Amino acid sequence: MIPATEVVEARGLIKDYATGLTAQKVRALHGVDFHVRRGEVVALLGPNGSGKSTLIKILLGLVRPTSGSCSVLGGKPGDIGVRARLGYVPDTPDFPGYLTARELVEFHGQLCGLSGEKLRQRAAAVLELVGLTAAASRPVAGYSRGMRQRAGLAQALVHEPEFLVMDEPLAGVDPHGAEEIVRIIDAIRRDRRTVLITSHLIGPLETVCDRVAILAAGRKLCDEPVSRLMLGDGFTPNRSVLEQAYCRVLDEAARKEVVEKS
Ligand SMILES: Nc1ncnc2c1ncn2[C@@H]1O[C@H](COP(=O)(O)OP(=O)(O)OP(=O)(O)O)[C@@H](O)[C@H]1O
Ligand SMILES: [Mg+2]
Repeated sequence: MIPATEVVEARGLIKDYATGLTAQKVRALHGVDFHVRRGEVVALLGPNGSGKSTLIKILLGLVRPTSGSCSVLGGKPGDIGVRARLGYVPDTPDFPGYLTARELVEFHGQLCGLSGEKLRQRAAAVLELVGLTAAASRPVAGYSRGMRQRAGLAQALVHEPEFLVMDEPLAGVDPHGAEEIVRIIDAIRRDRRTVLITSHLIGPLETVCDRVAILAAGRKLCDEPVSRLMLGDGFTPNRSVLEQAYCRVLDEAARKEVVEKS
């Protein structure tokens, strides 16, 4: 069978949340088209509240879109078969605190069909990869924020997923740890697997992502190869060019809005 090139194919996604006692409507996504191709590392960027986590949760089947269509790995978001082929690093890891990192990772591996020696080997390998070997027998409740992020990454990687979805995996991780995570992403990419990542720490992504999509207030402002986004002049040396390109896109969108309103 020839593998499909589209890992994510989403069209016209609208998401309305109803909040508070009066069920006030918040539109988190305003008809977003989004795709991810096999083997790509895609960075999904945008200000707080722009809809990144909502879009990710729709792809995972954790949130139902109000309208629009979406397929992931050729199936429906949330289908068991699809879930077993992807890894998810949640934005706020909320693991049962009494589990140790090893138990957490092994439990997740079991859910994805691993068992016996293979499960133990994979769990040990990913805990080593994320730098948690020494702390692996301690309950997660006593972990620092960055250690929790690392545990989240380990559970997402244990079953060698085809598609890794990471919602702010660099939040709370020290700079050296962030570099290690970027190296892990790079290794996954060289393995021709697919990654979708959100992050407010943009600089570290510059060398590792192929494409950048930027959301603002639930709308997609831009979706381009990173090399094209970083083209042009006027960037300040000694500062991440991707970070500057990102700010430029947001500034231009804000300027356009002011002009349109005036
Ligand atoms: N469960 C929810 N109930 C009500 N509103 C929600 C819910 N989840 C998200 N929202 C709203 O949807 C919008 C988009 O939120 P979302 O979490 O997707 O943004 P984000 O881009 O991930 O932000 P951040 O960078 O802060 O993580 C926000 O206005 C948020 O308040
Ligand atoms: Mg978020």
